[in-house]
Amino acid sequence: MKILITGGAGFIGSNVTKKLLQRGDSVVCVDEFNDYYSPEIKQRNVAQFAENSNYTLYRGTITDYEFLKGIFEKEKIQRVVHAAARAGVRPSIENPFIYEDTNVKGTLNLLHLAKEFAIENFVLFSSSSVYGNSPKVPFCETDPVDNPISPYAATKKATELLGYTYHHLYGLNVNVVRPFTVYGPGGRPDMAPFLFTKWIDEGKEVKRFGDGSTRRDYTFINDLVDGVVSAVDKILGYEIFNLGNSDTIDLNSFIAIIEKILGKTACVKQHPAQPGDVPITFADLTKAGNLLNYKPKVKIEKGMEIFIAWYLENKQLY
Ligand SMILES: NC(=O)c1ccc[n+]([C@@H]2O[C@H](COP(=O)([O-])OP(=O)(O)OC[C@H]3O[C@@H](n4cnc5c(N)ncnc54)[C@H](O)[C@@H]3O)[C@@H](O)[C@H]2O)c1
Repeated sequence: MKILITGGAGFIGSNVTKKLLQRGDSVVCVDEFNDYYSPEIKQRNVAQFAENSNYTLYRGTITDYEFLKGIFEKEKIQRVVHAAARAGVRPSIENPFIYEDTNVKGTLNLLHLAKEFAIENFVLFSSSSVYGNSPKVPFCETDPVDNPISPYAATKKATELLGYTYHHLYGLNVNVVRPFTVYGPGGRPDMAPFLFTKWIDEGKEVKRFGDGSTRRDYTFINDLVDGVVSAVDKILGYEIFNLGNSDTIDLNSFIAIIEKILGKTACVKQHPAQPGDVPITFADLTKAGNLLNYKPKVKIEKGMEIFIAWYLENKQLY
């Protein structure tokens, strides 16, 4: 198949690309290589595919409809994996406008082109953050998600709604995936697994927002990729899937895992809890298990061992 991956230079997009190329698909990547974190990291992510004749890279923004249309006209794209986004909760409070632009307008551009070019299946990246402060755990896809607590979460919810509308009006097949805190080799340098590992390794102050009781359901990248690839393959109409690990851990225990693997003690400094941060994420995976055969294999202790081994080998690049 020929698959368009937006955000294909990013952490998740580049790992999905690798898997699809390995199994023989062709991948067309669109990415603007923005500086939300170092674009050099994104360059390295795509450099590994440069020699692959089944791989084509377009640099540009998904907010530019004509640019995207040119790609759909030129390439015979069959399926879309839409992973490009402004990601990150706290920066979305500081600058909500770029979040709206990329996440909402960019997604609408892609859905519209998917309709125009009769795309067979569209995988739309939402986020576990749409669950907000939902008191009911684990989070289930049928739970109401009408109270997002950050602009980021609100834009992700908006994309789910647009996806539904395009399914309803035009029969576009859309699989929405809601990833839960994804980590692993090459992981995003703005996220807790990377930052905490770096701070503890370098003996720097570990900024902990809140008392450490917040809980996260961390998902190892290989497990997530398996779920996404299955969502590419399965044509189901319009469905929403949690892709998590269904094993939630509090922040203090998470820090203790990193301390143990590195053999170093964290100098934790407590800061006030951040607006927009949710107290817990916890995925109910029943639906993803049933319809996508999604079964995460990597426990947090093992996943962090793999991540930290990668970090220690590559830290000079960051
Ligand atoms: N990493 C996680 O834990 C997590 C959790 C939930 C949801 N998600 C979602 O998964 C997707 C991928 O996340 P990631 O962690 O790989 O993030 P990432 O920042 O590493 O990747 C996103 C990529 O999109 C590109 N991009 C951003 N705006 C663009 C634009 N306007 N035009 C073209 N390219 C643009 C960026 O340059 C980047 O390479 C995102 O939609 C994100 O919201 C991620």
